[in-house]
Amino acid sequence: MIDFSTKYLGLDLKGPIVVSSTPLSESLDNIRRMEDAGAAAVVLTSLFEEQLILESKALDEDLARGTESFAESLDFLPKQADYRVTQDVYLEHLRKAKDAVRIPILASLNGATPGGWVRFAKEMEQAGADAIELNTYALATDKNQTSVVLEVQLLELVESVCQEVKVPVSVKLSQSFTSMASLVSRLEQVGARGVALFNRFYQPDFDIEALEVRPSLHFSTSSELLPRLHWAAILYGQVDLDIAITGGVHTAEDVLKSIMAGASMTMMASALHIHGIDHIGRVLADMQYWLERHEYDTLWGTRGGLSRRSVPDVSPFDRGNYIKTLSSYSLRQTVAAF
Ligand SMILES: Cc1cc2nc3c(=O)[nH]c(=O)nc-3n(C[C@H](O)[C@H](O)[C@H](O)COP(=O)(O)O)c2cc1C
Repeated sequence: MIDFSTKYLGLDLKGPIVVSSTPLSESLDNIRRMEDAGAAAVVLTSLFEEQLILESKALDEDLARGTESFAESLDFLPKQADYRVTQDVYLEHLRKAKDAVRIPILASLNGATPGGWVRFAKEMEQAGADAIELNTYALATDKNQTSVVLEVQLLELVESVCQEVKVPVSVKLSQSFTSMASLVSRLEQVGARGVALFNRFYQPDFDIEALEVRPSLHFSTSSELLPRLHWAAILYGQVDLDIAITGGVHTAEDVLKSIMAGASMTMMASALHIHGIDHIGRVLADMQYWLERHEYDTLWGTRGGLSRRSVPDVSPFDRGNYIKTLSSYSLRQTVAAF
């Protein structure tokens, strides 16, 4: 029997597959099924900065009924009804999830700017969260907002959440940063214990008949894994915080590649929406078969084996890869033409 155990944020995980933040975990029954299928931990869906600000403003409004500024300030925020759960329902669900299963439960906060709303991290901790995943989804749409300002804002946000709680904090990052290794190193300095690579961006689609721009959500495929493998392999060994991969993890091969790149664990969302929660068990069985066939005793022993610091030729990770890829393509085309 292969030892699948891993460690993430100082938590002992029984295996490498964690359920990523998704509405599937809004049902306690599903969380139990996730544990039974072999999930090593569950990240709950997010509470959003906008929602927390809205709820605290609503509370202020209750306390000082009649202030005009309240109604005006709500204009730019989604309506309260757009969010699936309130803070209280969230905390209650978190407590029940902790009672229902033995695997770690991570709470998720989702926001972009520092502010009083991060105090909610403390309530998540008090409700029993084993760790906080902070999703820092931000879009720079203002031409005056420089990358330096954005990064400083992100670091301040992460630092303020880390100062709020004793449980470990991981940061779910977007892929679009100019200097990823430097940023992740600075996240470590302000207190983050892990990074989850990467957020998926949900670009809206354009309906040219209705002349409307609409939100669109499609599930991932394994092809989305490649940039995550690339950055995990580059970061592994350069930084001390743990790496999780989220985005494009569907098969045993995807999980094995991720661990070999240097990740401590992988997360699944789309695969479970497409194939069902029991998919976790099938992927673990396929991994077991592969590891036995290649005579590994532990999964941990494979970690980082294909990272940038482990492979003899680092050019696939650097500019050399770019040149080789383009050159080999034109060569094939030329041969085909003759
Ligand atoms: C329906 C749905 C809802 C999601 N909700 C959240 C959320 O509330 N917070 C969050 O951080 N990520 C959320 N995600 C993103 C996933 O956690 C995950 O990072 C992303 O889907 C990439 O993983 P995948 O390729 O396994 O789907 C959601 C994804 C899906 C499909």
